[in-house]
Amino acid sequence: MKTRPIALSVNGHCHTLDLPPETPLLYILRNDLGLNGPKFGCGLGECGACAVLIGKRAVRACTISVAAAEGRAIVTLEGLGTKDKPHPVQQAFIEQQAAQCGYCLNGMIIATTALLLRDAQPDESAIRAALSRHLCRCGTHIEILAAARRASE
Ligand code: FES
Repeated sequence: MKTRPIALSVNGHCHTLDLPPETPLLYILRNDLGLNGPKFGCGLGECGACAVLIGKRAVRACTISVAAAEGRAIVTLEGLGTKDKPHPVQQAFIEQQAAQCGYCLNGMIIATTALLLRDAQPDESAIRAALSRHLCRCGTHIEILAAARRASE
């Protein structure tokens, strides 16, 4: 496959890598940059486990190419907060004990953060709409919704 230098801005750091432009962003985040917050779930844009923030949107990193992400500010779960100092959305998810297996939480947290960037006080329907295309196979939707509500308080 033909490669070219691609400059990616991830969590405030610039990385220039020689890549095939059509490479899914998720592969580079996880395999080259060691950022395992975004998860590989379906690889088809269906589950939301791989979401990252680009601007104020939650974008599925398995379906966006590195070429399409080039020059845009990408924020992964690792760029939101730290273990010692979680982002308020992460803190709300911890306090509501929203994780069961935890695989979906990256997408849930990124989607909630994106929503709050666009609307600081979303109503219930806006929260549900923002999370509706994020799948949780454990069924902890009640806690996840509670966490998203708490984050918006
Ligand atoms: Fe990207 Fe499922 S892994 S949407």
